[in-house]
Amino acid sequence: MITIEASILAADYARLGQQAREAEAAGVDGIQIDVMDGSFVPNITFGPGVVRALRREVDLFLDVDLMIVNPQEHLEAFADAGAGRLIVHREACSNPREVLASVRDLGVEVGVALAPETPLSTIEELLGLVDFVQVMTVTPGWGGQDFIHSQLEKIRRLRQMLGARGLGVRIGVDGGIDTTTAPLVVMAGATSLVAGSAVYKGAASVAENVAALKASVTANQKGE
Ligand code: DX5
Repeated sequence: MITIEASILAADYARLGQQAREAEAAGVDGIQIDVMDGSFVPNITFGPGVVRALRREVDLFLDVDLMIVNPQEHLEAFADAGAGRLIVHREACSNPREVLASVRDLGVEVGVALAPETPLSTIEELLGLVDFVQVMTVTPGWGGQDFIHSQLEKIRRLRQMLGARGLGVRIGVDGGIDTTTAPLVVMAGATSLVAGSAVYKGAASVAENVAALKASVTANQKGE
């Protein structure tokens, strides 16, 4: 089953609750909240308070993408705020096993993300510890970037690695996901799509954008 999460990085921050509700009404499976600290990535965005506010607004799964240094210092605050999954970035973890175990101990889903230049070998020994691997298909930090096609091979290889180990880990993709790139990543083995600009930007409504994304993936699965 292919899931779609709306990334509120691309939403109108002056009406964040309404934009989350629009995505919920449009039928997304979750909201991804991109937390950025100005250190791990140049941009600064949201804290636990925004997660807590969104928890009150929607019933959706809240997927918190921690693009921050020292993620272990902030895990509990985001879990308490209502995160359903915490994603840590491999490059920010000097002791990834410890960080992933801390996420597991909080009772939320465990995710790890890889930047485009980070090889799969850096997480090969961690695959048994996670529920979710997010392949970044843009350089972390900003929405609205162009999809990096070289990551398709990484998705394919990750799908093979997981299959060889009999692991039911979901593969997420994040960055430049739209009606053109969504079928490509699904064919490569992705099962969870994160989309910001494709959901919230442009003239069409959120509902129309989400429907188009879903159709692009369904059509692909039927071989149309
Ligand atoms: C990058 C961000 C973006 C965001 C989605 O750090 O994580 O990938 O979620 O951006 P779009 O969908 O606008 O490319």
